[in-house]
Amino acid sequence: MPSPSTSKLTEAFSQALPRYQARVEKALDRWLPDAHRPPARLHEAMRYATLQGGKRIRPLLVYATGEALGLQPARLDGPAAAVELIHAYSLVHDDLPAMDDDALRRGRPTCHRAYDEATAILAGDALQTLAFRVLAGDAAMEAAPETRLRMIATLTEAAGSRGMVGGQAMDLAAVGRALSEPELEAMHIHKTGALIRASVLLGALGATEAEERRLERLDHYGKCLGLAFQVQDDILDVEGDTEALGKQCGADARLNKPTYPALMGLEPARALARELVDDALESLAGLDSRADVLRGLARYVISRDS
Ligand code: IPE
Ligand code: IPE
Ligand code: MG
Ligand code: MG
Ligand code: MG
Repeated sequence: MPSPSTSKLTEAFSQALPRYQARVEKALDRWLPDAHRPPARLHEAMRYATLQGGKRIRPLLVYATGEALGLQPARLDGPAAAVELIHAYSLVHDDLPAMDDDALRRGRPTCHRAYDEATAILAGDALQTLAFRVLAGDAAMEAAPETRLRMIATLTEAAGSRGMVGGQAMDLAAVGRALSEPELEAMHIHKTGALIRASVLLGALGATEAEERRLERLDHYGKCLGLAFQVQDDILDVEGDTEALGKQCGADARLNKPTYPALMGLEPARALARELVDDALESLAGLDSRADVLRGLARYVISRDS
C-alpha cells in the first residue's frame, strides 16, 4: 500500500488540531474551579496557567489515538483534559525560580510572575490532583472501573518519579555537567517522553479495538514521538523565535542545560529527530487512514516553530 503523501497527512492534522483544541478547552474550563470561588487567587492562578494557551499536543494525541481505534471524542474529553492538567502543572513548576526561573510562558508572564511563588506552587499541586479527579469521575468517558484504574495507573506512572518528575530531577542534577548521550536520552525520555507516551495510551485504553499487539505498536509510536518532541524543543531553544515560541529562546544555554544540540550539534540533532519520527511512523503501518492525524502529528513535531 503506498504511504499517504505528506500534504495529505499535514491536512488531516491541521484540520483536526483546532477541533480538538476547542474540545479540550471546553472540558478544562468545565473542570477547573470557578475563578470567583474561594480561595479565589488560587483558582484564578489555576485557570491562568491552563486556559487559553498551549498547542494542546498531548490532548490531540489522546483524541487522535482514540479516534484511530473507533472511539467517539466525547469519551476522550476526560483523559485529554487530565493529561493537559498534568502538563500545565509541570510547566508552572518548571518555570519556578528554583527550577528554570523563566519569566515568559505561552506568550504571557509565567504563573509565579503573574501571581507569586507560593500561589504557583499550590496551583501546580491542585492542577495535578484535579487530573486524577477527572479520570476517576468523568461520566462521559463511559469507562469501566478497571479501565479507569488502568488510566490512573498509566498517568501516575508517567507523571511521577519514574516519569516526568524523575526526568525533571535528572535535568536539575545535570546542570553544568557533561552528560553522555544515553544519559541525555534517559533524561528526555523521562521529563517529556513519558507524558507524551501516556497520552497515546490514555487514548487507546478505552477502545475495544485496542488489542495488546496494537497497544504495543502505538506505545512505540508514543515513545519515539516523545523523545523527538524534546529534541525539537532543544533545537527551538537555539534557533527558534521568542515571539513565536511564547517562551524565552536561549534559556537552556543561559542555565548551562545539557541538550541535544549542545551534545552533538544542530544538524545531527535534526537528523536524530527525523529518524525518530520515521520510526514512529513505521509503527503505525498496521492502522488505516483513521490514523492519518497521528501520522501528520509526527511530521509536525519536527517541522513546528512553536
Ligand atoms: C513544552 O511543551 C515543555 C516540554 C515538555 C518540551 P509544549 O511545547 O507542548 O508546550 P505548550 O503546551 O504548547 O505550551
Ligand atoms: C520541560 O523541559 C519539561 C517539563 C516541563 C516536564 P523544558 O524546561 O525544556 O521545557 P521549556 O523549554 O521550559 O518549555
Ligand atoms: Mg526545565
Ligand atoms: Mg523550562
Ligand atoms: Mg526547553
